[in-house]
Amino acid sequence: MHQDTGGIVPEVAAREHLRAIDALTEKALGDAGCQLTEIDAIAATVGPGLIGCLLVGANYARGLALSAGLPFVGVNHLEGHVYANWLEEREATPEPELPAVVLVVSGAHSDLVLMEAHRRFRPLGRTIDDAAGEAFDKVARLLHLGFPGGPIIERVAKAGDPKAFPLPRAAVADRFDFSFSGLKTAVLRLVRELEKKGEVPVADVAASFQKAITEMLAEKTARAAAEHAVQTVLLGGGVAANLALREEIARRIGHPLRVPSPALCTDNGAMIGAAAFFALRHRGTEIPVAVRSDLKLA
Ligand code: KG4
Ligand code: ZN
Repeated sequence: MHQDTGGIVPEVAAREHLRAIDALTEKALGDAGCQLTEIDAIAATVGPGLIGCLLVGANYARGLALSAGLPFVGVNHLEGHVYANWLEEREATPEPELPAVVLVVSGAHSDLVLMEAHRRFRPLGRTIDDAAGEAFDKVARLLHLGFPGGPIIERVAKAGDPKAFPLPRAAVADRFDFSFSGLKTAVLRLVRELEKKGEVPVADVAASFQKAITEMLAEKTARAAAEHAVQTVLLGGGVAANLALREEIARRIGHPLRVPSPALCTDNGAMIGAAAFFALRHRGTEIPVAVRSDLKLA
């Protein structure tokens, strides 16, 4: 549906949420083989995000919690991306060790934060213009590759040369902030030039773009890790599914790097459950948060 429009149309997305949410909840309970009476709490994202979608999810969850006599937990979507790192046990360290530097990169956010303890986040930097995922999506559209662009760019880039085209790495005054709009414009200009000359070498453009953006993200993440006494570096959000990004960061840091499996990097309900689990454990009660499209992580 979103592929047809080359992006998400908020009203369409909200309507589809409404259409799917009841059946989806039934299916989730069925797949998990459990009854509503066996559930401890009901959580839903309360922001950030598209307001229509947030309202459908949060109101449905609140209603369900009320009728079942269960606590409702409002979860910050970005906190969900962070807590996706607690869903899978790894052999050496079952849980990520804190404090950690966390890079959350999604379709609408690029946040670098210091996670001092559970549910305690301190902002280090964020994007001053486009989000990383947005840049992937826009470049993919420019190359007529479809939506969402991130996974397609990653696949196409495998056949390309990352050194084919020199692209700018933006210098941002604030040490841990990001800026991707200059890179996006540079790719636009490059593609227009190449189109004039004939066929666009799509794989080479994709690889050069991916190299530039992953280097920008990795450079600041590594610097943040080096300057703060942390145990771990964590990644989260749809763009963290990108293997080139993981490799670029792993190569530059002296810390253990932890990234959820690709399916848990992109939006999912499990991560909201994980964040709710820690919200209940570390605060103990219902967290009544109103839906907010511009909610911040820190
Ligand atoms: O976290 P997410 O699923 O949704 C939001 O909260 O926005 O992130 C979606 C974003 C999209 O921009 C998508 O293109 C990007 O994550 N993405 C990727 C990859 N998979 C998804 N970007 C780069 N490489 C990927 N493999
Ligand atoms: Zn997300």
